[in-house]
Amino acid sequence: MTTDTSRITPEEAGLVFVTPSAFADEPRFHEACRVLRHEDPIHLVTSDDFLPFHVLTKHADVLEIELHNTEWCNAPRPVVMTKVGEAHRQEHGEMLRTLIHMDDPDHRAYRTMTAEWFLPKNLAKLDARLAGLAKQAVDTMAAKDGQCDFARDIAMPFPLQVILAILGLPESDYPRMLQLTQELFGSSDEELSRGQSMDDLMAVINDFFVYFTQLTEDRRAHPTDDLASVIANATLDGQPVGIMETISYYVIIATAGHDTTASSMAGGLHALIEHPDQLQRLRDDPSLIPTAVDEIIRWVTPVKHFMRNCTTPYELRGHRFEPGDMVMLSYPSANRDEDVYTDPMRFDVGRQPNKHLAFGFGVHYCLGAMLARMELKALLTELVPRLRSIELAGPPRYMQTLFVGGPKSVPIRYEVE
Ligand code: HEM
Repeated sequence: MTTDTSRITPEEAGLVFVTPSAFADEPRFHEACRVLRHEDPIHLVTSDDFLPFHVLTKHADVLEIELHNTEWCNAPRPVVMTKVGEAHRQEHGEMLRTLIHMDDPDHRAYRTMTAEWFLPKNLAKLDARLAGLAKQAVDTMAAKDGQCDFARDIAMPFPLQVILAILGLPESDYPRMLQLTQELFGSSDEELSRGQSMDDLMAVINDFFVYFTQLTEDRRAHPTDDLASVIANATLDGQPVGIMETISYYVIIATAGHDTTASSMAGGLHALIEHPDQLQRLRDDPSLIPTAVDEIIRWVTPVKHFMRNCTTPYELRGHRFEPGDMVMLSYPSANRDEDVYTDPMRFDVGRQPNKHLAFGFGVHYCLGAMLARMELKALLTELVPRLRSIELAGPPRYMQTLFVGGPKSVPIRYEVE
């Protein structure tokens, strides 16, 4: 891991947003964001492989664009797009149509289908289940003789078990889903992806289609009270939802809540090990766990960006955008903005207020934000009091990504009760 943070120019800084390996070097990445926030907060990124876009690095700018969802749409490119990917999209159309590909009025209609399921009242029913999974996770640590890879052995399985439990999928499908979600989201990281080409990506998406088509047929024939049944039997204007949208819905639920939450857990533990005073604060005062959860999510910010597409001339910070222009919302940069945070590079488990944008904002605000917070809270509530000692057993390694990521390996040595 290179961490030479000296003399980064705005041009070099801009290139990190199209360089997956740059996200694996956190100090350098954050320094690049700092340079842009100060020297060129609306920076044009051009490269051989990607369509050009401006990256927004200030908290206020990210927030403003999220709130103007008529002037700035998710379609047609909700995430950063390679030129090859764009040619493919133009020739074959979208491979998926999830909530993040949609704008109003469709977005509102599709979001409403599951919104009730994600309300606090309904999620509260999961509390005991989450506490059970957290206990199981720490018991697993206890059984491992004081050494494990926290990212791989604990953080990865935990949120996947939650997602599959809420979808109502059998435990025997866990390995298959784990592999597919990692292949879809880790697709810039050679260790995690099936391959780097469009064909490889399409093969992964095709596997999702096969799996979830069977699930839809089953839940239409035998509905239960799980989220998969809500999705399979949803209607729009009295008609069943199209197969593309139905499958896409499962894909977003199965994937959006996995690597994001796993990365927060693994990155959070890494942060607590690096800041033993903060771990001690949590031990001394467990009532800080809720603020610690949000500080961990801010610190890790596992979703590295979403894009917005300009629909009408728009001025931001003196810069004029035209229809068709794209901006990248840099959540990690917004969450280290000196204009919003006192001492943003300090990890502070008691930080309040903490108006981070790790879950986005506005109409697309993360549907699973509350569930993600509950998962992290359950894990910390179980782990912190049982932890006698903990240290790194080797250097953590971070994922190469442009979209979702965090640590892929956090080797630890510990004593738990
Ligand atoms: C720490 C964990 C998580 C983080 C950091 C995170 C972050 C995000 C972000 C940044 C967005 C886009 C928001 C925007 O465009 O303004 C999003 C959307 C979404 N997230 Fe999460 N997420 C997490 C966990 C989850 C979980 C557990 C689920 C559900 C099982 C979930 C489901 C979704 C869905 C369905 C959307 C699309 C919402 C829409 O477009 O209306 N996420 N998330």
